[in-house]
Amino acid sequence: MSTETGLDVMSAIRGRRAIRSFTPERLGRGVIEELIDAAIQAPTAVHREPWAFAVIQDKERLRRYSDRAKALLLEQREATSFFQREEPRALAVLSDPAFNIFYDAGTLVVIGCRARGPFVDADCWLAAENLMLAATAKGLGTCCIGFAVGVLNTPEVKRELGIPDAGAAVAPIIVGVPRGPIPPGARKPPLILSWAS
Ligand SMILES: Cc1cc2nc3c(=O)[nH]c(=O)nc-3n(C[C@H](O)[C@H](O)[C@H](O)COP(=O)(O)O)c2cc1C
Repeated sequence: MSTETGLDVMSAIRGRRAIRSFTPERLGRGVIEELIDAAIQAPTAVHREPWAFAVIQDKERLRRYSDRAKALLLEQREATSFFQREEPRALAVLSDPAFNIFYDAGTLVVIGCRARGPFVDADCWLAAENLMLAATAKGLGTCCIGFAVGVLNTPEVKRELGIPDAGAAVAPIIVGVPRGPIPPGARKPPLILSWAS
């Protein structure tokens, strides 16, 4: 597998897409460590570097977390009314026993923290974007899995992942080799509310 495409940063930013279909190729430890090294180059509030990582490449465990995540989300009134309002198709996929919230990706990187703090979520998500851009530059595909945040923060799963009680799972990112070409993205023009000069 080629692990470097030599993309410049703007090409990686524009080329990153949420990837939801992967080949069965398993990523080696070295590649994941390089992605985590890119993640930790992100800025952090007061230079706290609050993050901590858990990597899951055990397919059975990912399937178990997926099944629990779907059940949890369907039980939560706040989640179901959000999806009803914003994305009714999400409720249908969550009800589908065959749907895997991790899209059968071979690797889940959970970016979390050892202790909460006012800027910790921002720190972790900035690390997540670095990781996803580095993966894009290596020809790999990624997708944030917000569906997984609830299950990853249950006491049992936190224990399995080694996340301390005071900490949390913040940004779950699947990584793998994309199956097929990556579709171009579309964005609305930015809404610039004001520009004083
Ligand atoms: C915080 C966050 C949570 C997300 N959760 C999910 C998810 O659970 N499942 C999923 O398929 N995509 C998820 N996505 C991916 C978005 O759907 C995707 O980024 C968006 O549609 C834009 O597409 P693009 O990333 O290809 O530009 C999430 C993205 C973010 C930023």
